[in-house]
Amino acid sequence: MATKEKTVRSAHSRPGEKVKVLITRDRIHRRILEIAKQIRQDFPDEPLLLVGVLKGAVFFLSDLARGIPGEVSLDFIAVSSYGKDTKTSGQVRLTKDLDASIEGRTVIVVEDILDTGMTLQYLLRVFEQRKPKRLRVAVLLDKPERRIAAVQADYVGFSIPNEFVVGFGLDYAERYRNLQGVGVLSLKAQDKAGKS
Ligand code: IMP
Ligand code: MG
Repeated sequence: MATKEKTVRSAHSRPGEKVKVLITRDRIHRRILEIAKQIRQDFPDEPLLLVGVLKGAVFFLSDLARGIPGEVSLDFIAVSSYGKDTKTSGQVRLTKDLDASIEGRTVIVVEDILDTGMTLQYLLRVFEQRKPKRLRVAVLLDKPERRIAAVQADYVGFSIPNEFVVGFGLDYAERYRNLQGVGVLSLKAQDKAGKS
């Protein structure tokens, strides 16, 4: 059982890909509940709108939303992402907009990971123009070393080193999102070269 925690079942990985567990599912769940409590303490009497950034934030958002007592609504937005690569292009594009207006509402943007910050910088700019009452950011993971854009999250699950991670919503080429915990993905050199 203990070994299962350290390496991901082979069914998830393809040849040349390895995942080493970085944060277990239990730690993630405990931390998300802490953040959920904190958010409600910060906004004791307000209806909250959680805006999940598809697709990486879905599991974080679903746990977070259920951990926050009181009135909570959900909406989703999607932006272009890394595609098949593990490096960002720095280009952000809206591919799915929100269903409803956020004017006058208390909005928490829920993201899987804050990396260069380009995605959040873009989203915050878009949202601010729509005049929410308050705008906050919750991210499950933060890679502070990688930051290019000057953005910060109000709620951070875990600060992690500069490694490419998968699981708990985070993908590599759309795979690994369904891993229970978060792990570091390593690729064999020849795979990396073929996928840039
Ligand atoms: P940023 O715009 O560079 O901050 O990147 C944000 C987006 O890039 C995240 O929402 C993820 O979709 C993706 N991303 C960044 N780092 C990782 C990673 O380590 N694994 C998987 N996706 C990542
Ligand atoms: Mg994402």
